[in-house]
Amino acid sequence: MSVAIYPGSFDPIHRGHLDIIVRAARLFEVLVVGVAHNPTKQPLFGPEERAEMVREAVEGITGVRVETFEGLTVAFARRHGARVIIKGLRATMDFDAEMKMAMMNRRLAPEIETLFLPTSPEYADLSSSLIKEVARLGGDVSALVPPAVVERLVAKVGRSVWTASWNS
Ligand code: PNS
Repeated sequence: MSVAIYPGSFDPIHRGHLDIIVRAARLFEVLVVGVAHNPTKQPLFGPEERAEMVREAVEGITGVRVETFEGLTVAFARRHGARVIIKGLRATMDFDAEMKMAMMNRRLAPEIETLFLPTSPEYADLSSSLIKEVARLGGDVSALVPPAVVERLVAKVGRSVWTASWNS
């Protein structure tokens, strides 16, 4: 059985992530989306909440599972019998950091390959951090994230701020 993992922070998942998941799921029998705890970052959403949003977003996509993980991505891959780590690439800004991670992961686990999928052009500008910033400042990001995320973002940043600024 061909298994791949797609690790990330997903704080929160957006349409660019979802596009990568849909396309990667066509290439592998099983795709395990790994929601990283990542103690060095200070996420807006806790790991279980991030995973829950991803689960709701991928409902109905065949072969996709969602789990949280702590520790090394390659250890997560090995636990799932995955030989491939999927990463999405938006632009050159991602390339350096992703190459470094791919090379380190290769050192740690030479049997595991990193596979880069270029983002679809319509999502090339999306990032979770920008989406959070815009939502905090009252901009409407509902077209950029799955419905499950819209509700939770509203709960975090406040609906009145959001709708008031957008409509005025
Ligand atoms: O969505 P992100 O924040 O770009 O995802 C980064 C992530 C979670 C994939 C990366 O930080 C990671 O792999 N973390 C797990 C710890 C690890 O394996 N570190 C060494 C990677 S070379």
